[in-house]
Amino acid sequence: MPRISTSLIRKAARIRPGLHLLLPECRTLEQAKLEYKWLTEELPSKKSIRWACFQRYKHVPLQYILRSQPFGALDIICKPGVLIPRWETEEWVMDIIRALNNSALSSRTIPLHICDTFTGTGCIALALSHGIPHSTFTAIDVSRKAIKLVKENMLKNNVSGGKLIEQNILSSKVCDEYPSHIDILTGNPPYIRMRDFNRDVTTSVKLFEPRLALVGELECYRNLVDHWLPKTDSFFYEIGDINQFSYVENRIKEDSNLSRSWSIGLKYDSNGKARVVYGFNTTPKGRMLLQIFAPFGTIRHLATALSKHKANSK
Ligand SMILES: C[S@@+](CC[C@H](N)C(=O)[O-])C[C@H]1O[C@@H](n2cnc3c(N)ncnc32)[C@H](O)[C@@H]1O
Repeated sequence: MPRISTSLIRKAARIRPGLHLLLPECRTLEQAKLEYKWLTEELPSKKSIRWACFQRYKHVPLQYILRSQPFGALDIICKPGVLIPRWETEEWVMDIIRALNNSALSSRTIPLHICDTFTGTGCIALALSHGIPHSTFTAIDVSRKAIKLVKENMLKNNVSGGKLIEQNILSSKVCDEYPSHIDILTGNPPYIRMRDFNRDVTTSVKLFEPRLALVGELECYRNLVDHWLPKTDSFFYEIGDINQFSYVENRIKEDSNLSRSWSIGLKYDSNGKARVVYGFNTTPKGRMLLQIFAPFGTIRHLATALSKHKANSK
């Protein structure tokens, strides 16, 4: 990363007191000015703005300073120890809400049960519950801090009808003991490989956001295929790269039962990065969701039961 020149630091300091302190995180004067503007809009006094600039100089994430992050229609409280929601996640979650609300499903008001694994602040579960009428949800996380924060976020955003489970998704029987059938399973698991974490992740994220929320290989996708598929009609799991998609796709294609009953899709984000692996079962609700989500991404494997049915009906 190129160093910030002394002349730029001096220039920033002359424009506003404290502005130069934002440069190490913001990198450009334009970004620093924008962030300074947000701080002045959100914080009550010059003293608190100055304090916030010093925090940013120490790489503290802006959302931990301002204590919240917009996520769709919601304002999600953010606290150290729990991952800050990202725009990449917000984008695909809003696309789910849009797809369902544009479909006949919402007008028929079929109740949907959503289960959000690796819930963190609860941003995905709460946004879906808020955006999809007649839905109920369960949100699961191993972190006590996260579950406590989901409760606060439910109160703040007037979201009710949710059940929270504090458990390790990978080692406990949380899936086997899951009491109800799931219509929509969502998850944003830790998916950054250790070597990528050391190489690519910013200082701010490394110092202040929980590693538990970020670092992972394929274990959460293995857990999805091994344990959750029999419980749900559809799933949407965020991915960090195409290999995680290929892993899920191959696992499903290589198993004749899964291949028969599961259609698998891939969604890219607006930056052109592979972002979501998703799938639909051949159950009646799964088939309906497959139709509803036709514009969501690209189906890369159509359940063989459906492709045979299509071929026979030609
Ligand atoms: C990438 S964060 C996602 C948070 C939130 N869903 C979002 O999109 O902002 C992953 C979350 O998974 C949780 N987590 C990590 N390993 C877990 C496990 N084995 N069982 C349950 N939760 C886990 C972490 O505590 C963290 O909150």
